[in-house]
Amino acid sequence: MKKKNTLIAATKGKTTSFSETIKTEVVCPNDTNPMGILQGGRLVQWMDIAAAVCAQTHADGICVTASIDTVRFFHSAKVGDILTIKAKITRAFNTSMEIMVEASVRDVFGNKPQALCLAYFTFVAIDSKAKKRSVPPIALVSEEDKRNFELAGLRKEKNI
Ligand SMILES: CC(C)(COP(=O)(O)OP(=O)(O)OC[C@H]1O[C@@H](n2cnc3c(N)ncnc32)[C@H](O)[C@@H]1OP(=O)(O)O)[C@@H](O)C(=O)NCCC(=O)NCCS
Repeated sequence: MKKKNTLIAATKGKTTSFSETIKTEVVCPNDTNPMGILQGGRLVQWMDIAAAVCAQTHADGICVTASIDTVRFFHSAKVGDILTIKAKITRAFNTSMEIMVEASVRDVFGNKPQALCLAYFTFVAIDSKAKKRSVPPIALVSEEDKRNFELAGLRKEKNI
């Protein structure tokens, strides 16, 4: 009986919330440029880690970054600011997955958080011999899931 339920769940795919990953960071002096502003590369590194955790949770195994696309910085962050980095799978293809990563920034004084950065990461699942392997599909449970899924397909087509 238990086996049957597992099979049904696998056929339906994993939800996007199953692997959604939230990472928090505080900007420290070592993360900034001489103006005291967070370096873009440091932020992308943190986003890459959140995206990797998300991809690996979905794929149940090691995944490598294949590409980072459309990195947009909307705001700056300074020493002491608190960042929230959210990584969410938008689509699982064959061996690759697109992970949308959004970062926001807030200060410690209770002001409204601001959108900081948005980027799309593609991860490829690999096995113990570093050979690519297939990943489970995602279960689309919301309108947002469906929209993200379709847009991920368009982005993949555009990049080919
Ligand atoms: C990513 C990697 C595994 C792809 O291997 P490959 O044999 O070239 O694979 P393919 O060209 O057959 O592509 C495999 C999948 O990845 C996708 N892919 C490959 N390169 C991609 C890129 N630059 N952008 C987006 N997707 C990419 C393909 O579309 C394909 O997706 P699908 O199977 O879901 O349809 C390989 O290039 C690699 O190991 N790169 C280094 C990864 C790494 O070390 N990352 C850390 C950076 S320091």
